[in-house]
Amino acid sequence: MRGITMNAIWRNGPAPAATPAGLVRLSGVHKRFGNGQQRVHALHDISFELAAGEIVALFGASGDGKSTLLNIVGLLETPSEGSVVIGNLLASKMSEQARVELRCDMIGYVFQSCNLVPVLTAHENVLLPLMLRARPGPADMAAKCALATELLGQLGLSKQAGHYPKRLDPSQSQRVAIARALVTRPRLVIADEPGARLNARAARLMMDLFVRCQRDDGTAFLISTRDQRQLVRVDRTLQLCAGRLRAPCAASARTTQRLPR
Ligand SMILES: Nc1ncnc2c1ncn2[C@@H]1O[C@H](COP(=O)(O)OP(=O)(O)OP(=O)(O)O)[C@@H](O)[C@H]1O
Ligand SMILES: [Mg+2]
Repeated sequence: MRGITMNAIWRNGPAPAATPAGLVRLSGVHKRFGNGQQRVHALHDISFELAAGEIVALFGASGDGKSTLLNIVGLLETPSEGSVVIGNLLASKMSEQARVELRCDMIGYVFQSCNLVPVLTAHENVLLPLMLRARPGPADMAAKCALATELLGQLGLSKQAGHYPKRLDPSQSQRVAIARALVTRPRLVIADEPGARLNARAARLMMDLFVRCQRDDGTAFLISTRDQRQLVRVDRTLQLCAGRLRAPCAASARTTQRLPR
């Protein structure tokens, strides 16, 4: 994997068994916050796998632990117990520096709040993750700019590319955040309620784009939602209830269900 030394990764733990098609594997993950009476046991004994190129929805009500679980899979939080394997790397035992490198190298994020930078245009916001990596050369930069423009266009935002966030409505801001998560062409996208601010048409554009990335780049997606209507066109649904995963739901509704128009 680019930019990461195996020594940095393995110094805190043994190498786990290889998972050929598996991109993410969680085993026995618990997450607790706080102490004493303030203690919250947010996740209980979570185990699941996400295959490379798979689109999985994580469904649950408010407070069920969706963001906590996404943050753990996305290496933004560490589990209190249990292991997180990304590729063949035991991420839950890595040094912080190695986790940062792994995040930059292979994960794109759509956060629950859009977190756009107010002094950058929509197009510049999309390009931001690339600026945080090694500075691209001029030819590479031109290609990246074109990709950012294309992603905004595919999300129906061609006219808003030069707008600053204060001129964008919530749906437009959310779609800029979605384009920003995809611009690095990550192997894994963690999307926390990405459809929450979108109407049916915008949600359809988002899913069209996700499916295109899956097909063309083999991108895997873990997408949280509280809205059952958004459990369409995914390969599989995981259901969280009070921090516990329920038995897996039936595989793909993708061929039989359609997004509302
Ligand atoms: N940093 C934290 N400190 C203390 N408790 C936390 C923290 N983060 C989450 N929690 C608690 O963990 C539980 C799960 O929260 P989480 O935000 O993961 O739920 P969620 O399913 O994403 O909810 P929502 O749909 O409202 O975003 C909640 O009880 C929440 O209060
Ligand atoms: Mg949440």
